Amino acid sequence: MSIPKCNTLVPSGAIPCVRKNSGGKKGVMINHVLNSKEVSCGKKFHQNEYDFYNTVFSLTGQENLIALRKFLPEWYSLVCEYNKEVYFVFENLVKSNKAIIMDLKIGHKTADTGGYFKQMRHYALDTIFSLSNKYGIRLEGANFPIQKFNHGVISLPGKKKYSRYGADPFDIFFSFFQAGNVTRHMIKSLINQLDYLINKALIPNLEILKRVKNSKRVDKFSFGLMGTSLLIIAHDNTIRLKLIDFARSTIVTRANQVNRAYKEMEDFIKTLSSLRSIIVSIF
Ligand SMILES: Nc1ncnc2c1ncn2[C@@H]1O[C@H](COP(=O)(O)OP(=O)(O)O)[C@@H](O)[C@H]1O
Ligand SMILES: [Mg+2]
Repeated sequence: MSIPKCNTLVPSGAIPCVRKNSGGKKGVMINHVLNSKEVSCGKKFHQNEYDFYNTVFSLTGQENLIALRKFLPEWYSLVCEYNKEVYFVFENLVKSNKAIIMDLKIGHKTADTGGYFKQMRHYALDTIFSLSNKYGIRLEGANFPIQKFNHGVISLPGKKKYSRYGADPFDIFFSFFQAGNVTRHMIKSLINQLDYLINKALIPNLEILKRVKNSKRVDKFSFGLMGTSLLIIAHDNTIRLKLIDFARSTIVTRANQVNRAYKEMEDFIKTLSSLRSIIVSIF
């Protein structure tokens, strides 16, 4: 089967997927023009991530996955080829060139695979350079300056990412709300989206995991999230909460995957709940 070529030429006036300071590994994302107006995103093909999206978007009758779908970019089950590399295609979540965006990686541990040096690097990232270990978050990308509350700017967009890692969750959200002219109405909407994610997707998912853990029979699919980010986008009086980056996440189909996924999801829910309190404190 031949793979179609990606169309990376962004028409003038269209909103690209690949932007400055967006975060993630360099060269991982490309623009792919779906039709004359809409530019979608291509991400370098990764089997595990592709399977994660495919399962979430194909299984019916699973409330945890159906609720999770609302927070993922639209999925087209489409791949294309660019420079001899394969990319999978999904919705560009950024709908305006003026949007204020941040990529917030969730979890006290953000990776556990790879060889010794890779592991040491992640250990250093999680404990020394970033606040993953303390707050369970790490700011991976932001297109606005981060202010230390009452202490001025500590990180400008485009600066080395380690400088951003010193910002705590309060500083991050406070700066985001300021940069995006985020109103109380928008903050309320963000809290509602967070509640929906926690109560309709994450808690029902944890309940499936708990059941499977006890019975050791996988009768329903659940998921574990590791290295997954919140992508929060504000523009024109709207704010949207999305989830991206599932390269290290799992769809649990075997009993021996349950314990790890359970720990990941407990951590994920705890972290989102504390972020919720921080957002409420600013509101
Ligand atoms: N669907 C999307 N729409 C718009 N921007 C996206 C989308 N997915 C990813 N991005 C941007 O690309 C960056 C890298 O994507 P990510 O999936 O996190 O890759 P990596 O595995 O390299 O971390 C993100 O920080 C985000 O800014
Ligand atoms: Mg990422």
